[in-house]
Amino acid sequence: MANNEFCIKPYNFFEIGSNGDCFLCCRLWQNSYCLGNILEQSFDDIWNGEKAVALRQSIIDNTYKFCDTNLCLKITGPAQTSPIAPYPEEVSLCYDNTCVQQCVYCRDEPQVMSEEEQAKYDALIEPVFIPMLKNAKLVTVNVAGEVFISKHSKKLIKRIAEVYPNIKFAIITNGILCSEENLNKLGIADKINDIRISIPSCIETTYNKIVRNGNYKAVMENLKYVSSLKKSGKIKVFHINYVLSLWNYKELIPMAELARDLGAGIHVLIAQNMGQDTKFLKEIEKYTVTDPSHPEFNEFVKVMNNPVIKNNPNIFINDSYKNLKPNSFIKVIKNKINFRKKYGWN
Ligand SMILES: C[S@@+](CC[C@H](N)C(=O)[O-])C[C@H]1O[C@@H](n2cnc3c(N)ncnc32)[C@H](O)[C@@H]1O
Ligand code: SF4
Repeated sequence: MANNEFCIKPYNFFEIGSNGDCFLCCRLWQNSYCLGNILEQSFDDIWNGEKAVALRQSIIDNTYKFCDTNLCLKITGPAQTSPIAPYPEEVSLCYDNTCVQQCVYCRDEPQVMSEEEQAKYDALIEPVFIPMLKNAKLVTVNVAGEVFISKHSKKLIKRIAEVYPNIKFAIITNGILCSEENLNKLGIADKINDIRISIPSCIETTYNKIVRNGNYKAVMENLKYVSSLKKSGKIKVFHINYVLSLWNYKELIPMAELARDLGAGIHVLIAQNMGQDTKFLKEIEKYTVTDPSHPEFNEFVKVMNNPVIKNNPNIFINDSYKNLKPNSFIKVIKNKINFRKKYGWN
């Protein structure tokens, strides 16, 4: 890690993942360094507990021993001297797996929080979630499932918006229910900072092959609505999450054209097994065109070098760099890193 650059992320950011495990950074960048569990410990015991203090101390000492500094794009800020931090400004809630779509790379069956589990999380809203957000400026919902169909997530969002009218939201969604009407129902239509819509193709047949139980027409309609929010300056960030595999890499070109017209950026994620264990992921090598040994790798490189993609500064690729060996398109990818900086992603 270069000297004189202080990573401020663990001072500002807090994430609750599945089963209530808590993190201070992107899990990929920290080998899933877990601080504790919100279902078992108090927020204070996690946020400024032993493990959080050890992590922040490693940044103060400049050893970064908990971080994978080859992967991470450090979020720099003013150097700190204390490992104790005030409450976080940015909170990501990603413990709610509820989703009835079944994207081939994400799940083979719909998942809905059981009543028992919902009651457990509902019971945390007033005593834990609301107080821990007292300094929050941005709340991200929901990286684990589909926010618009989860009873618990909707209840929580409405309550946050009531108690903290100045908190902004970052929404990540499959787009099917991301309409003006639904954002109004949640009370957040005018409180959104950014919207990420995951859509793996703008070609209907491919979309239906990948997003099982999806709704192509609704997504296309909602993309136009979100585009109008972006173009009128009502939201700061609008981008499309594009999970890339053999099935859709060529369609990144029409998607780049559509995104350009919509005023959206594209974040390309390479489909990879993150533990979901779907049928598709069990054969992931067959689909990983970013691997130089894949038979269609050269075709993929051609796609990446298509001017619609190569010359678009708002397309960013992230596969944690695991598959990206130095080759003819690495230059393109390096340029795209600026996208992350530009939009303040982390
Ligand atoms: C799990 S989803 C939850 C949010 C919302 N339902 C959505 O689809 O955007 C979060 C993001 O992870 C991506 N994703 C899911 N499984 C993936 C996989 N195996 N590899 C890469 N990205 C994946 C999705 O496309 C989406 O952009
Ligand atoms: S990627 Fe999103 S929409 Fe697709 S199954 Fe996973 S949570 Fe649902």
